[in-house]
Amino acid sequence: MNRLSLFALLFCTAVASDTRADDSLYTRIGGLPVLQKITSRLVDRSSTEPVTKRSFNKVNLDRVKEKLAEQFCVLAGGPCTYTGDDMKLVHQGLNISEREFYGLVEQLRQVLDSEGIGSREKNELLALLAPMKPQVVHQPTEP
Ligand code: HEM
Repeated sequence: MNRLSLFALLFCTAVASDTRADDSLYTRIGGLPVLQKITSRLVDRSSTEPVTKRSFNKVNLDRVKEKLAEQFCVLAGGPCTYTGDDMKLVHQGLNISEREFYGLVEQLRQVLDSEGIGSREKNELLALLAPMKPQVVHQPTEP
């Protein structure tokens, strides 16, 4: 192999691995502006639709939108830091039911569809949120 083809091979390998490194869900979704739009639309829906609105009474919706966008960004592999409160502490006093949880998940699914997010990205984001259910849904204490 001559020097030029060795250089070309190394260069192409570097470009290829860079592309792979940047293949995060965060990048594929479209970055922070898209995530902010998604969380803003989600919180607008959750705080007004009958199945989920109960616990959003008197809540600072702008704060929830901002913290949720940060959290989605981190989960999706983006360059953000989550500066909100602990998930269990935030939700534990709200007595959130499974029905409310799945209601919000369905709202998110619809927001992602209407923003034109691909099904691969949609399913990846939903799969990242599913394990958080025990931190959000109220677990009745044993008698
Ligand atoms: C995986 C699902 C969920 C995630 C990732 C999530 C995430 C968050 C985040 C990041 C915050 C802001 C924390 C902060 O202010 O520091 C928040 C607050 C809140 N969430 Fe959730 N949440 C989820 C499910 C739900 C569900 C199902 C409901 C109700 C239907 C809900 C109701 C609320 C309310 C009312 C607040 C505001 C609490 C307050 O300011 O006192 N969340 N959530």
